[in-house]
Amino acid sequence: MSSPPPPAVTADPEPTHGVWSRAFQLAIPHGIVVGIQLPTEPGPIPHEVSQRLHPKERAAGLELSGARQIQWTGGRLALQLALKRLRSRRQPFLSQPSGAVQAPQGLFASVSHKRDLAVGLVGQETAGSLGVDVETVIPERNHLAPRILTPGELQRWQALPEDRRWPVLLTHFSIKESIYKALHPMVDRYVGFHEAELDLGPNGSAQVTLHLTQGEGPFEVQARYLWLDQHLLTTARIRKVQPPPSR
Ligand SMILES: CC(C)(COP(=O)(O)OP(=O)(O)OC[C@H]1O[C@@H](n2cnc3c(N)ncnc32)[C@H](O)[C@@H]1OP(=O)(O)O)[C@@H](O)C(=O)NCCC(=O)NCCS
Repeated sequence: MSSPPPPAVTADPEPTHGVWSRAFQLAIPHGIVVGIQLPTEPGPIPHEVSQRLHPKERAAGLELSGARQIQWTGGRLALQLALKRLRSRRQPFLSQPSGAVQAPQGLFASVSHKRDLAVGLVGQETAGSLGVDVETVIPERNHLAPRILTPGELQRWQALPEDRRWPVLLTHFSIKESIYKALHPMVDRYVGFHEAELDLGPNGSAQVTLHLTQGEGPFEVQARYLWLDQHLLTTARIRKVQPPPSR
């Protein structure tokens, strides 16, 4: 929490327009992340959109309905575009029983969606387990602070000027959700918000210390945040590290 989140930036090098189109595509240290604009009104998935999915994804999407079908489809479109940057062959991203994305062999992938935007992150499995999260910047919900922040984070947060509190709280929330998505496949249990402690740095970086109640690890965690026009995008990458040999 040593310095404020940077101002909003435009992340899209070649913006496109309209629902079901790409809102942005970024190469970040954790992999390739793509955003897809979603329709905010309910309706069937257009045929030309579902054709962009892998047939197995299309079949899985047909099992869903309403907003869930729209968000799931948007997430898979984002993953397919990210995959295109890494591999030429189209492969399916299905769901594991836990809910996590089942990525093709050798890759790791994560998804997040809001009403108007779906994001997908894909990276090489060798680089670590990945998590992505997207949040809408409004409305402010500062009353959630004690649930999201550890006692140490809460103390530092309460000392901030009023207008900094919501962006800093939202960044903590989103990074912790990204950490959860990367960590859950490695520890296979619910991880609480107080099991990770953050210190936000400048330029979208964040120091992360895990306090895992079940003592798993040790893990190396990298986390980043980026302010887009209407959204906050965060990512996490987690690798298991070898503990130092005991003497
Ligand atoms: C699982 C959770 C992180 C999902 O976040 P959300 O805000 O509800 O929804 P999002 O749109 O951001 O993400 C949904 C995606 O999460 C992914 N997901 C769901 N369960 C998952 C799991 N166990 N592990 C990894 N990813 C998972 C899926 O890909 C899902 O999208 P899809 O079904 O279309 O593929 C959230 O519901 C949750 O349980 N959070 C509390 C735990 C937590 O964050 N602790 C902090 C630890 S430091």
